[in-house]
Amino acid sequence: MIYLDYAATTPVDNRVLDAMMPYFHEHYGNPSSVHRLGQKAEAAVDEAREKVALALGCEPGEIVFTSCGSEADNLALRGASMAGRSASNRTWILTAKTEHHAVSRTAEQLEREYGFQLEWLDVDEHGSVTPESLNKAVCNNTILASVMYANNEIGTINPIPELAKIAKANNILFHTDAVQAAAYLDVNVKKLGVDLMSLGGHKFYGPKGVGALYVRKGTKLLPHLTGGGQEFGLRAGTHNVPYIVGFAEALSLAAEEREARTAHVKPLRDYIIGSVLEMIPDSKLTGHPENRLPNHASFVFKDADGNLLLQLLDSAGFACSSGSACKTGSPEPSEVITALGYSRDWALGSLRVTLGKDTTAEQIDSFLKALPELVEKTRKLNQR
Ligand SMILES: Cc1ncc(COP(=O)(O)O)c(C=O)c1O
Repeated sequence: MIYLDYAATTPVDNRVLDAMMPYFHEHYGNPSSVHRLGQKAEAAVDEAREKVALALGCEPGEIVFTSCGSEADNLALRGASMAGRSASNRTWILTAKTEHHAVSRTAEQLEREYGFQLEWLDVDEHGSVTPESLNKAVCNNTILASVMYANNEIGTINPIPELAKIAKANNILFHTDAVQAAAYLDVNVKKLGVDLMSLGGHKFYGPKGVGALYVRKGTKLLPHLTGGGQEFGLRAGTHNVPYIVGFAEALSLAAEEREARTAHVKPLRDYIIGSVLEMIPDSKLTGHPENRLPNHASFVFKDADGNLLLQLLDSAGFACSSGSACKTGSPEPSEVITALGYSRDWALGSLRVTLGKDTTAEQIDSFLKALPELVEKTRKLNQR
Protein backbone atom coordinates (compact mmCIF):
# COMPACT_ATOMS: atom_id res chain seq x y z
CA MET A 1 0.00 0.00 0.00
CA ILE A 2 1.33 3.43 -0.92
CA TYR A 3 0.12 5.92 1.67
CA LEU A 4 -0.73 9.37 0.29
CA ASP A 5 -3.10 10.55 3.01
CA TYR A 6 -0.80 12.28 5.51
CA ALA A 7 -3.33 15.08 6.08
CA ALA A 8 -5.70 12.45 7.53
CA THR A 9 -3.06 11.16 9.88
CA THR A 10 0.61 10.22 10.14
CA PRO A 11 2.35 7.19 11.65
CA VAL A 12 3.99 7.74 15.04
CA ASP A 13 7.70 8.50 14.65
CA ASN A 14 9.87 5.86 16.37
CA ARG A 15 11.67 8.57 18.35
CA VAL A 16 8.28 9.75 19.63
CA LEU A 17 7.28 6.22 20.56
CA ASP A 18 10.56 5.75 22.45
CA ALA A 19 9.90 8.92 24.45
CA MET A 20 6.37 7.76 25.31
CA MET A 21 6.98 4.15 26.31
CA PRO A 22 8.33 4.60 29.88
CA TYR A 23 5.17 6.49 30.87
CA PHE A 24 2.87 3.56 30.17
CA HIS A 25 4.32 1.08 32.63
CA GLU A 26 7.39 2.41 34.46
CA HIS A 27 6.48 5.97 35.39
CA TYR A 28 2.75 5.43 35.51
CA GLY A 29 1.89 7.80 38.34
CA ASN A 30 -0.90 10.35 38.30
CA PRO A 31 0.65 13.83 38.01
CA SER A 32 -1.81 15.06 40.67
CA SER A 33 -0.51 12.56 43.28
CA VAL A 34 1.85 13.78 45.99
CA HIS A 35 4.20 10.75 46.09
CA ARG A 36 7.32 10.24 44.00
CA LEU A 37 5.60 8.34 41.20
CA GLY A 38 3.19 11.23 40.88
CA GLN A 39 6.01 13.76 40.93
CA LYS A 40 7.83 11.89 38.17
CA ALA A 41 4.71 12.03 35.98
CA GLU A 42 4.14 15.68 36.85
CA ALA A 43 7.72 16.49 35.86
CA ALA A 44 7.15 14.79 32.49
CA VAL A 45 4.03 16.89 31.84
CA ASP A 46 5.89 20.05 32.91
CA GLU A 47 8.78 19.25 30.62
CA ALA A 48 6.39 18.53 27.73
CA ARG A 49 4.66 21.87 28.34
CA GLU A 50 8.02 23.65 28.22
CA LYS A 51 8.93 21.93 24.95
CA VAL A 52 5.61 22.89 23.36
CA ALA A 53 5.99 26.48 24.59
CA LEU A 54 9.47 26.63 23.04
CA ALA A 55 8.10 25.45 19.69
CA LEU A 56 5.28 28.04 19.79
CA GLY A 57 7.33 30.92 21.25
CA CYS A 58 5.13 31.35 24.31
CA GLU A 59 5.08 30.69 28.07
CA PRO A 60 4.48 27.15 29.36
CA GLY A 61 1.49 28.50 31.32
CA GLU A 62 -0.19 29.40 28.03
CA ILE A 63 -0.46 25.75 26.88
CA VAL A 64 -3.54 23.65 27.69
CA PHE A 65 -3.30 19.96 26.79
CA THR A 66 -6.48 18.44 25.35
CA SER A 67 -7.59 15.04 24.01
CA CYS A 68 -7.37 16.08 20.32
CA GLY A 69 -7.43 18.96 17.89
CA SER A 70 -11.23 18.93 17.86
CA GLU A 71 -11.31 19.40 21.62
CA ALA A 72 -8.88 22.31 21.37
CA ASP A 73 -11.19 23.94 18.79
CA ASN A 74 -14.20 23.32 21.02
CA LEU A 75 -12.51 24.80 24.07
CA ALA A 76 -11.48 27.86 22.06
CA LEU A 77 -14.89 28.54 20.54
CA ARG A 78 -17.13 27.55 23.43
CA GLY A 79 -14.79 28.89 26.08
CA ALA A 80 -14.20 32.28 24.47
CA SER A 81 -17.83 32.80 23.40
CA MET A 82 -19.29 32.01 26.80
CA ALA A 83 -16.70 34.01 28.74
CA GLY A 84 -16.94 36.91 26.27
CA ARG A 85 -20.72 37.10 26.54
CA SER A 86 -20.60 37.04 30.35
CA ALA A 87 -18.00 39.81 30.45
CA SER A 88 -19.37 42.17 27.81
CA ASN A 89 -22.73 40.96 26.52
CA ARG A 90 -21.32 40.55 23.03
CA THR A 91 -22.80 37.69 21.00
CA TRP A 92 -21.36 37.53 17.47
CA ILE A 93 -18.97 34.84 16.23
CA LEU A 94 -17.20 35.01 12.86
CA THR A 95 -15.89 31.99 11.00
CA ALA A 96 -15.84 30.52 7.47
CA LYS A 97 -17.57 27.65 5.68
CA THR A 98 -14.15 26.29 4.75
CA GLU A 99 -13.32 25.51 8.39
CA HIS A 100 -13.01 21.96 9.68
CA HIS A 101 -16.26 20.74 11.24
CA ALA A 102 -14.61 20.92 14.67
CA VAL A 103 -14.96 24.70 14.25
CA SER A 104 -17.91 25.14 11.87
CA ARG A 105 -20.24 22.65 13.58
CA THR A 106 -19.31 24.06 16.98
CA ALA A 107 -20.08 27.59 15.82
CA GLU A 108 -23.40 26.41 14.35
CA GLN A 109 -24.35 24.77 17.63
CA LEU A 110 -23.43 27.89 19.58
CA GLU A 111 -25.87 29.78 17.35
CA ARG A 112 -28.64 27.19 17.33
CA GLU A 113 -28.61 26.12 20.98
CA TYR A 114 -26.83 28.82 22.96
CA GLY A 115 -28.13 32.11 21.58
CA PHE A 116 -25.03 33.37 19.79
CA GLN A 117 -25.08 34.92 16.32
CA LEU A 118 -22.90 33.45 13.62
CA GLU A 119 -21.67 35.18 10.50
CA TRP A 120 -19.84 33.29 7.75
CA LEU A 121 -16.82 35.14 6.42
CA ASP A 122 -16.53 35.31 2.62
CA VAL A 123 -13.79 33.25 1.01
CA ASP A 124 -12.24 33.88 -2.40
CA GLU A 125 -11.99 31.32 -5.22
CA HIS A 126 -8.95 29.73 -3.56
CA GLY A 127 -10.72 29.37 -0.22
CA SER A 128 -8.74 32.20 1.43
CA VAL A 129 -10.30 34.44 4.04
CA THR A 130 -9.06 37.87 3.02
CA PRO A 131 -8.40 40.84 5.34
CA GLU A 132 -11.19 42.66 3.45
CA SER A 133 -13.75 39.97 4.30
CA LEU A 134 -12.87 40.13 8.00
CA ASN A 135 -12.88 43.93 7.99
CA LYS A 136 -16.32 43.90 6.40
CA ALA A 137 -17.78 41.51 8.97
CA VAL A 138 -16.56 42.87 12.32
CA CYS A 139 -18.90 44.94 14.44
CA ASN A 140 -19.07 46.21 18.03
CA ASN A 141 -20.88 43.08 19.07
CA THR A 142 -18.27 40.58 17.82
CA ILE A 143 -16.56 38.39 20.43
CA LEU A 144 -14.41 36.10 18.38
CA ALA A 145 -13.15 35.35 14.88
CA SER A 146 -11.92 31.84 14.08
CA VAL A 147 -9.98 31.31 10.84
CA MET A 148 -7.88 28.23 10.14
CA TYR A 149 -4.17 28.58 9.41
CA ALA A 150 -4.13 25.94 6.64
CA ASN A 151 -7.05 24.09 5.14
CA ASN A 152 -7.19 20.31 5.43
CA GLU A 153 -9.12 19.72 2.20
CA ILE A 154 -7.58 22.22 -0.20
CA GLY A 155 -4.27 23.13 1.47
CA THR A 156 -4.81 26.91 1.29
CA ILE A 157 -2.84 28.94 3.83
CA ASN A 158 -4.72 31.93 5.26
CA PRO A 159 -3.00 35.28 5.97
CA ILE A 160 -3.18 34.81 9.75
CA PRO A 161 -0.91 37.73 10.86
CA GLU A 162 -2.99 40.24 8.86
CA LEU A 163 -6.29 38.79 10.07
CA ALA A 164 -5.13 38.71 13.69
CA LYS A 165 -4.07 42.36 13.41
CA ILE A 166 -7.56 43.35 12.27
CA ALA A 167 -9.12 41.39 15.12
CA LYS A 168 -6.84 43.08 17.65
CA ALA A 169 -7.59 46.55 16.27
CA ASN A 170 -11.29 45.80 16.76
CA ASN A 171 -10.88 44.30 20.24
CA ILE A 172 -11.97 40.83 19.09
CA LEU A 173 -10.37 37.55 20.14
CA PHE A 174 -8.70 35.67 17.29
CA HIS A 175 -8.51 31.87 17.15
CA THR A 176 -6.72 29.83 14.52
CA ASP A 177 -7.01 26.10 13.93
CA ALA A 178 -3.39 25.16 13.15
CA VAL A 179 -4.03 21.40 13.23
CA GLN A 180 -2.85 20.97 9.62
CA ALA A 181 -0.36 23.83 9.63
CA ALA A 182 1.90 22.73 12.48
CA ALA A 183 3.58 19.98 10.46
CA TYR A 184 5.03 22.42 7.94
CA LEU A 185 4.51 26.07 8.87
CA ASP A 186 5.97 28.39 11.47
CA VAL A 187 3.63 28.25 14.47
CA ASN A 188 5.25 31.02 16.51
CA VAL A 189 2.23 32.61 18.17
CA LYS A 190 3.93 36.00 18.58
CA LYS A 191 4.61 36.24 14.86
CA LEU A 192 1.08 35.09 14.08
CA GLY A 193 -0.43 37.47 16.65
CA VAL A 194 -3.21 35.07 17.66
CA ASP A 195 -4.97 34.77 21.03
CA LEU A 196 -5.89 31.09 20.68
CA MET A 197 -4.39 28.34 18.53
CA SER A 198 -5.33 24.64 18.23
CA LEU A 199 -2.95 21.76 17.52
CA GLY A 200 -3.42 18.00 17.11
CA GLY A 201 -0.59 15.50 17.65
CA HIS A 202 -1.37 12.93 14.97
CA LYS A 203 -0.82 15.29 12.06
CA PHE A 204 2.92 15.62 12.79
CA TYR A 205 3.98 12.06 13.63
CA GLY A 206 2.68 12.17 17.18
CA PRO A 207 -0.02 9.93 18.66
CA LYS A 208 -3.74 10.25 17.98
CA GLY A 209 -5.91 11.38 20.86
CA VAL A 210 -3.86 14.32 22.12
CA GLY A 211 -3.88 18.00 21.24
CA ALA A 212 -3.20 21.40 22.72
CA LEU A 213 -4.69 24.86 22.81
CA TYR A 214 -2.48 27.92 23.09
CA VAL A 215 -4.29 30.46 25.26
CA ARG A 216 -2.64 33.88 25.33
CA LYS A 217 -2.08 35.03 28.91
CA GLY A 218 -5.09 37.01 30.13
CA THR A 219 -7.55 35.48 27.63
CA LYS A 220 -10.69 34.46 29.50
CA LEU A 221 -12.23 31.06 28.68
CA LEU A 222 -15.08 29.24 30.35
CA PRO A 223 -13.94 25.61 30.85
CA HIS A 224 -16.07 23.16 28.88
CA LEU A 225 -14.87 20.07 30.77
CA THR A 226 -15.32 20.65 34.50
CA GLY A 227 -14.03 18.60 37.41
CA GLY A 228 -10.49 18.55 38.79
CA GLY A 229 -8.26 21.59 38.52
CA GLN A 230 -5.91 20.20 35.84
CA GLU A 231 -4.66 22.44 33.05
CA PHE A 232 -5.06 25.65 35.05
CA GLY A 233 -8.70 24.85 35.68
CA LEU A 234 -9.48 24.93 31.94
CA ARG A 235 -9.61 21.21 31.20
CA ALA A 236 -10.41 18.68 33.90
CA GLY A 237 -9.27 15.06 33.68
CA THR A 238 -6.21 13.04 34.67
CA HIS A 239 -3.36 13.87 32.31
CA ASN A 240 -2.66 11.37 29.54
CA VAL A 241 1.04 11.47 30.38
CA PRO A 242 2.53 9.25 27.62
CA TYR A 243 0.49 10.99 24.93
CA ILE A 244 1.38 14.45 26.21
CA VAL A 245 5.06 13.44 26.22
CA GLY A 246 4.67 12.09 22.66
CA PHE A 247 2.88 15.23 21.50
CA ALA A 248 5.69 17.46 22.77
CA GLU A 249 8.43 15.27 21.28
CA ALA A 250 6.68 15.15 17.90
CA LEU A 251 6.16 18.92 17.83
CA SER A 252 9.82 19.57 18.73
CA LEU A 253 10.94 17.24 15.93
CA ALA A 254 8.54 18.92 13.49
CA ALA A 255 10.04 22.32 14.38
CA GLU A 256 13.63 21.03 14.10
CA GLU A 257 13.07 19.20 10.83
CA ARG A 258 10.54 21.56 9.25
CA GLU A 259 12.87 22.93 6.57
CA ALA A 260 14.18 19.51 5.57
CA ARG A 261 10.71 17.98 5.47
CA THR A 262 9.43 20.89 3.37
CA ALA A 263 12.37 20.65 0.98
CA HIS A 264 11.57 16.95 0.53
CA VAL A 265 7.81 17.13 -0.09
CA LYS A 266 7.43 20.38 -2.03
CA PRO A 267 9.05 19.29 -5.33
CA LEU A 268 7.09 16.03 -5.18
CA ARG A 269 3.87 17.99 -4.63
CA ASP A 270 4.64 20.29 -7.58
CA TYR A 271 5.42 17.27 -9.74
CA ILE A 272 2.01 15.75 -8.89
CA ILE A 273 0.14 19.00 -9.56
CA GLY A 274 1.88 19.63 -12.90
CA SER A 275 1.46 16.04 -14.09
CA VAL A 276 -2.19 15.64 -13.08
CA LEU A 277 -3.29 18.90 -14.71
CA GLU A 278 -1.39 17.98 -17.87
CA MET A 279 -2.46 14.34 -18.12
CA ILE A 280 -6.10 14.43 -17.04
CA PRO A 281 -8.62 16.40 -19.14
CA ASP A 282 -11.19 18.49 -17.24
CA SER A 283 -9.09 18.57 -14.08
CA LYS A 284 -8.51 21.57 -11.81
CA LEU A 285 -6.34 22.25 -8.81
CA THR A 286 -8.43 23.23 -5.78
CA GLY A 287 -7.12 25.73 -3.25
CA HIS A 288 -4.39 28.29 -3.69
CA PRO A 289 -1.80 27.63 -6.41
CA GLU A 290 1.08 29.09 -4.32
CA ASN A 291 -0.05 29.74 -0.76
CA ARG A 292 -0.68 26.12 0.04
CA LEU A 293 0.77 23.47 2.33
CA PRO A 294 3.97 22.07 0.82
CA ASN A 295 2.77 18.45 1.08
CA HIS A 296 -0.75 19.03 -0.23
CA ALA A 297 -2.20 18.53 -3.74
CA SER A 298 -5.96 18.60 -4.27
CA PHE A 299 -8.05 18.41 -7.39
CA VAL A 300 -11.51 18.19 -8.86
CA PHE A 301 -12.26 16.09 -11.94
CA LYS A 302 -15.44 16.96 -13.85
CA ASP A 303 -18.07 14.19 -13.99
CA ALA A 304 -15.94 11.81 -11.92
CA ASP A 305 -17.17 10.09 -8.76
CA GLY A 306 -14.68 10.93 -6.03
CA ASN A 307 -15.77 8.16 -3.68
CA LEU A 308 -15.55 5.53 -6.39
CA LEU A 309 -12.15 6.88 -7.39
CA LEU A 310 -10.93 6.37 -3.81
CA GLN A 311 -12.13 2.77 -3.89
CA LEU A 312 -10.45 2.11 -7.22
CA LEU A 313 -7.25 3.72 -5.95
CA ASP A 314 -7.44 1.57 -2.82
CA SER A 315 -7.79 -1.58 -4.92
CA ALA A 316 -4.80 -0.47 -6.98
CA GLY A 317 -2.77 0.00 -3.76
CA PHE A 318 -3.01 3.74 -3.08
CA ALA A 319 -4.46 5.36 0.05
CA CYS A 320 -5.79 8.84 -0.77
CA SER A 321 -8.73 10.94 0.35
CA SER A 322 -11.44 13.01 -1.25
CA GLY A 323 -11.12 15.79 1.32
CA SER A 324 -11.44 15.67 5.05
CA ALA A 325 -11.04 12.11 6.37
CA CYS A 326 -14.35 12.55 8.19
CA LYS A 327 -16.28 13.09 4.96
CA THR A 328 -15.11 10.05 3.06
CA GLY A 329 -18.07 7.94 2.01
CA SER A 330 -20.56 10.82 2.00
CA PRO A 331 -22.51 11.09 -1.28
CA GLU A 332 -22.80 14.87 -0.87
CA PRO A 333 -20.14 17.21 -2.25
CA SER A 334 -17.84 18.69 0.35
CA GLU A 335 -18.97 22.02 1.80
CA VAL A 336 -15.44 23.33 1.39
CA ILE A 337 -15.29 22.58 -2.35
CA THR A 338 -18.82 23.95 -2.78
CA ALA A 339 -17.81 27.16 -0.93
CA LEU A 340 -15.20 27.74 -3.66
CA GLY A 341 -18.03 27.98 -6.20
CA TYR A 342 -17.71 24.58 -7.93
CA SER A 343 -20.91 23.10 -9.32
CA ARG A 344 -21.96 19.57 -8.29
CA ASP A 345 -20.57 17.91 -11.46
CA TRP A 346 -17.10 19.16 -10.50
CA ALA A 347 -17.39 19.08 -6.70
CA LEU A 348 -18.31 15.38 -6.49
CA GLY A 349 -15.06 14.44 -8.20
CA SER A 350 -12.58 15.67 -5.61
CA LEU A 351 -9.27 14.05 -4.71
CA ARG A 352 -6.71 14.93 -2.04
CA VAL A 353 -3.15 13.63 -2.22
CA THR A 354 -0.98 14.47 0.78
CA LEU A 355 2.66 13.55 1.21
CA GLY A 356 4.90 12.77 4.15
CA LYS A 357 8.56 12.75 5.10
CA ASP A 358 8.97 9.17 3.87
CA THR A 359 7.15 9.56 0.52
CA THR A 360 9.42 8.69 -2.41
CA ALA A 361 9.58 9.81 -6.06
CA GLU A 362 9.04 6.17 -7.10
CA GLN A 363 5.77 6.06 -5.14
CA ILE A 364 4.60 9.22 -6.89
CA ASP A 365 5.57 7.83 -10.29
CA SER A 366 3.50 4.70 -9.78
CA PHE A 367 0.58 6.79 -8.50
CA LEU A 368 0.72 9.06 -11.56
CA LYS A 369 0.88 6.05 -13.81
CA ALA A 370 -2.30 4.60 -12.32
CA LEU A 371 -4.44 7.73 -11.79
CA PRO A 372 -5.53 8.87 -15.31
CA GLU A 373 -7.02 5.50 -16.21
CA LEU A 374 -8.90 5.27 -12.91
CA VAL A 375 -10.38 8.76 -13.32
CA GLU A 376 -11.58 7.81 -16.81
CA LYS A 377 -13.09 4.61 -15.43
CA THR A 378 -15.16 6.50 -12.84
CA ARG A 379 -16.32 8.92 -15.56
CA LYS A 380 -17.50 6.05 -17.75
CA LEU A 381 -19.27 4.34 -14.86
CA ASN A 382 -20.83 7.68 -13.91
CA GLN A 383 -22.41 8.02 -17.37
CA ARG A 384 -24.34 4.75 -17.05
C1 LIG B 1 -7.95 21.51 10.19
C2 LIG B 1 -8.32 20.47 11.18
N1 LIG B 1 -8.87 20.83 12.35
C3 LIG B 1 -9.23 19.93 13.29
C4 LIG B 1 -9.05 18.59 13.07
C5 LIG B 1 -9.44 17.62 14.13
O1 LIG B 1 -8.30 17.14 14.79
P1 LIG B 1 -8.39 15.79 15.65
O2 LIG B 1 -8.48 14.68 14.68
O3 LIG B 1 -7.09 15.79 16.43
O4 LIG B 1 -9.57 15.93 16.52
C6 LIG B 1 -8.49 18.15 11.86
C7 LIG B 1 -8.33 16.71 11.57
O5 LIG B 1 -8.46 16.27 10.45
C8 LIG B 1 -8.11 19.12 10.89
O6 LIG B 1 -7.58 18.77 9.73
